[in-house]
Amino acid sequence: MGTTTSPPPPSGGNPLGDELRGARHAQPCAVVIFGATGDLTKRKLVPSLMGLAKDGLLPNGFAVLGFARREWTDEHFRAELRDGVHQFGRSDTTASFDRLAERFEYHCASFEDPAGYHALKARLDQLDARFGTRGNRIFYLATPPSSYSSILANLAAAGLSQEQDGRTARVIVEKPFGRDLQSAVALNDQVRAAFAERQVFRIDHYLGKETVQNILALRFANGIFEPLWNEKFVDHVQITVAESIGVGGRGGYFEESGIIRDMIQNHLMQVLTLIAMEPPAALTADAVRDEKVKVLKTIRSFAPHEVAAATLRAQYTRGTFAGEEALGYREEEGVAADSQTETYAAVRLHVENWRWSRTPFFLRSGKRLPRRVTEVAIQFKQPPHLLFEGGRPLQPNVLLLRIQPDEGVAMRFGAKVPGPDVRVRDVRMDFRYGTAFGGESADSYERLLLDAMLGDGTLFARRDEVEEAWRIVDSIVHGWRQSNERPLEYEAGTWGPNGDDLLLGPGRAWRKP
Ligand code: BG6
Repeated sequence: MGTTTSPPPPSGGNPLGDELRGARHAQPCAVVIFGATGDLTKRKLVPSLMGLAKDGLLPNGFAVLGFARREWTDEHFRAELRDGVHQFGRSDTTASFDRLAERFEYHCASFEDPAGYHALKARLDQLDARFGTRGNRIFYLATPPSSYSSILANLAAAGLSQEQDGRTARVIVEKPFGRDLQSAVALNDQVRAAFAERQVFRIDHYLGKETVQNILALRFANGIFEPLWNEKFVDHVQITVAESIGVGGRGGYFEESGIIRDMIQNHLMQVLTLIAMEPPAALTADAVRDEKVKVLKTIRSFAPHEVAAATLRAQYTRGTFAGEEALGYREEEGVAADSQTETYAAVRLHVENWRWSRTPFFLRSGKRLPRRVTEVAIQFKQPPHLLFEGGRPLQPNVLLLRIQPDEGVAMRFGAKVPGPDVRVRDVRMDFRYGTAFGGESADSYERLLLDAMLGDGTLFARRDEVEEAWRIVDSIVHGWRQSNERPLEYEAGTWGPNGDDLLLGPGRAWRKP
């Protein structure tokens, strides 16, 4: 079936573009990127800043100071960034970079040495004078987490974390935010020693995705879904984040994290909270996050003996991928030959409140699956009395939120097949972002960087959210550790281990996206 939205814009642009533009203006600021010689800066941060520049969303008073150990000059730094924008930026963003190139400078210092921070302060004052950044600073921690504590302590000691005379100081912290509850609490304490919570922006880039933000719009801007959004009508919810890539060059990191820490603790849990939360009183950062954290609080930690029945973990083995032989996880660089780290995990969670008490939420994520796809499937219960097809159960109704790629929302329902017989078949009503709104959609980092400049924390994880998510994940990891069972196996390029449907219970199966 076709889309039910208005016809596509004639020019291919977003028909609401003019209406939407210009509502949010960030104050002047200087962005200091710690770890500026790394991949994130080149692939994501600077291309995203240039996406904002292209759309006229960067403030006039703006500058970036890269802070890292390597002995680069400003010129070398700019050349690297330009190359990154050219390769990874949206179309025409290289021109924005060329226009703003002189506002990108490099500061070579060690993260541990206090002297480097005093010099940083002096350089920021110079940037204020030259580029009108007015003493407002954003510190972006894009280093390995082991450097966070030195950076935070040094920023505080140099007086750079203080907000005075209307000047703002904010810190953006990249994931991973800890590797268990204890380390997350310790890191939160370090952050708190330097910055107040309202100054802290913990990145979960899934929250910057348009389709993830659309979950709230779909639920709370429409009257038709909310009455059905509960255990009376919803049989279960499946949240899938599948990736076709393996761990590639990140074997060393992944060995320490596994898919449960890398994806489930953050991205999937965040999506779960948006699906399950109650309507917030307002769309303010704290009202939204209060509701999200309430969801996490209703999910019990698992006792070790409960973990085997409620979870499943597996590791990919050698297989065929896109017609080519793909390595098994244990053959990847940086991975132990006898590694027990999971590259696929599925968990059943219960949100124990009035709305959801009998509706399980199933979360799964894996590397080296056949396709890259993120989706949420809300699967509805069968009608109470089956009149069609001789009383056989039909395919259940599904509301499918396609987070990526092919972003959109689809509804599956039964319809009468034309003809003299009464036959019912599945059909699909489909809304596609690309067709309805057109235009090139911005990377999630664009939205998040803009929000941090605006001081809007709605799309960032608050301290209690992160800690609650770790509490749940810790109990799973603990259960796995206590059992002597090894992860199951699945061939690279398949949808996970055999028998993964068992976790869902009788009559249910994972969707094959
Ligand atoms: C990151 C994980 O947070 O998210 C990666 O560390 C993963 O392992 C990535 O590949 C997936 O992000 P996206 O936006 O491509 O779905």
